Amino acid sequence: MSADLRVRPLAEADIPALDDLGHRAPGLWAHRLDEQSRYISLTLVASIGPNPIGHAVLTWEGPRGTPDISDVWVVPSHRRQGVARFLIESCESVARDQGMTRVGLSVGVENHAAQALYSSLGYLETPDPPFEESGEWTDAGGIVRAWSEWVRYRVKSL
Ligand SMILES: CC(C)(COP(=O)(O)OP(=O)(O)OC[C@H]1O[C@@H](n2cnc3c(N)ncnc32)[C@H](O)[C@@H]1OP(=O)(O)O)[C@@H](O)C(=O)NCCC(=O)NCCS
Repeated sequence: MSADLRVRPLAEADIPALDDLGHRAPGLWAHRLDEQSRYISLTLVASIGPNPIGHAVLTWEGPRGTPDISDVWVVPSHRRQGVARFLIESCESVARDQGMTRVGLSVGVENHAAQALYSSLGYLETPDPPFEESGEWTDAGGIVRAWSEWVRYRVKSL
């Protein structure tokens, strides 16, 4: 892991560089910043120098009533260097500081890299059957696109 790796809450100044990564819909980061200001979620941004290289979102009250981690993503050029691990451990640390005792997340049944990541960090699969998550996003051309993924839920005691 690079000694220059830093993780910090999303700030207004990060938005142009995050938009430049081009992997999320324009407007998402402003939406997340708004949620952050209303204590709905916290977006953590990983960076080396001034450049964002990854992110994760901690939603304070997830679908199962506990904090939930989502949208963990690392730029391909910086994968397998411990960035996602650092982001998730940072989410856990913030949740623990707020008195939370559990954190959960859902992971795609086909996403073997993410499954290995969460297993290595102690996230245990719940016995619940897989379920489908879906939503919409707007691409850079303004076209609304649908996504869906079969996932399983995992939890970790803090
Ligand atoms: C999954 C993802 C977030 C991992 O990010 P990363 O920064 O490369 O992960 P880390 O370097 O912190 O990996 C920590 C551990 O997770 C496991 N892991 C991570 N990626 C893996 C892979 N591709 N294959 C197998 N194990 C993997 C390993 O145990 C790894 O430890 P090691 O490198 O010492 O063996 C990244 O590949 C990514 O952004 N993928 C696309 C988005 C995505 O799928 N997000 C998860 C949504 S639930």
